[in-house]
Amino acid sequence: MTSTVPHTNNKAKIAQSFGSASRSYDISARLQRFSGKHLMPWLPNKNNLTVLDLGSGTGFFTDLLASSYNQVIGLDLSKGMLHFAQESRNKSINWIEADVHKIPLQDESVDFIYSNLVIQWCDPLDVAIAEMLRVLKPGGLIIFTTLVDGTLHELKSSWKQVDDDQHVIDFKKEDELNQLFNTDASSIVEHKCQDIVLEYQNVIHLARELKGLGANHLPKKRNRGLSGKEKWFAMTEHYQDFLEPSGIYPATYRLYSGLVVKLNN
Ligand SMILES: C[S@@+](CC[C@H](N)C(=O)[O-])C[C@H]1O[C@@H](n2cnc3c(N)ncnc32)[C@H](O)[C@@H]1O
Repeated sequence: MTSTVPHTNNKAKIAQSFGSASRSYDISARLQRFSGKHLMPWLPNKNNLTVLDLGSGTGFFTDLLASSYNQVIGLDLSKGMLHFAQESRNKSINWIEADVHKIPLQDESVDFIYSNLVIQWCDPLDVAIAEMLRVLKPGGLIIFTTLVDGTLHELKSSWKQVDDDQHVIDFKKEDELNQLFNTDASSIVEHKCQDIVLEYQNVIHLARELKGLGANHLPKKRNRGLSGKEKWFAMTEHYQDFLEPSGIYPATYRLYSGLVVKLNN
C-alpha cells in the first residue's frame, strides 16, 4: 500500500468549510440522514460497548448511538462542528478534535466504528483505514457509508463542457474501496452500492445544499475565485439535459455502505 503524508493545509480547509456550515448543516442533510439511518440494521445489539463515531459532524448520529451504547466518542476535524455538537447533544458523549489519519486513542480500545459520509474526504485513505484498524479490538467492526465515483455525475459533466477545472471532488471507485478493505488485516462482511437521486428546483438549489453541507471544498480547484457568471450560466444550460419532464433537476449520489471486520491476526 502507498502512503503519503496527509496535506495539512487541505485538512484545515476541509475543517473550515465544514465548520462554517455547522449551523445550516442539519437542515441541508437529507442524504446524510438517509445514509446514516440505513446503517442501523448493522449495529451490534449489545450495550456495553465502546463506540467511535468517526467524522461525527453535528453529532446527530453520535446522539443516537449514545442512547444505545455505554461509551460513545465523537471525533471530528472541525472545531465548529464539535462546538455545535457539544452544545446540543447527550452530555455523556466524549468529543475529540482530531484527524482520522491520526486518531488519539489507544490500540485496540474501540469495539466498533460508525462513520457516515466521511471517508470520501480522507486522503490518503489507506492511512485512515490503518488508524481505524489500530484502535479497533480484534473482531471489531467498521460500519460506514461513503460516496463513490458516479456521484454528482450530472454536475461534473455539465461543468466539463464549460472548463476543465475541478468542480466536484474525486470519488474512489467501488472496486478500489473493496481492495482497500479486503486485506490481511480486515475483510468486508457485507457491502452494497446504490444510486440515490435527489431532486432540486434548480442548480442554485443544488449548489446551496452542497455549501450548506460544507461539501464545497475542492482541493484541486485551480481558479479559486468565483466561476464567473457566464461560465455558471453555461453550466446550468448543460445541466438542463438532465431535466426531468416534471421540471425537477436530479442529482445522483452513489452511496457505498460497508460492514467490515478487523481480522484476528
Ligand atoms: C458530510 S459530514 C458527515 C457528518 C456526520 N457523520 C453525519 O452523518 O451527519 C463529514 C464530516 O467529516 C469531517 N471530516 C472530514 N475529514 C475529516 C478528517 N480527516 N478527520 C476527521 N473528520 C473529518 C468533517 O469535518 C465533517 O464534519
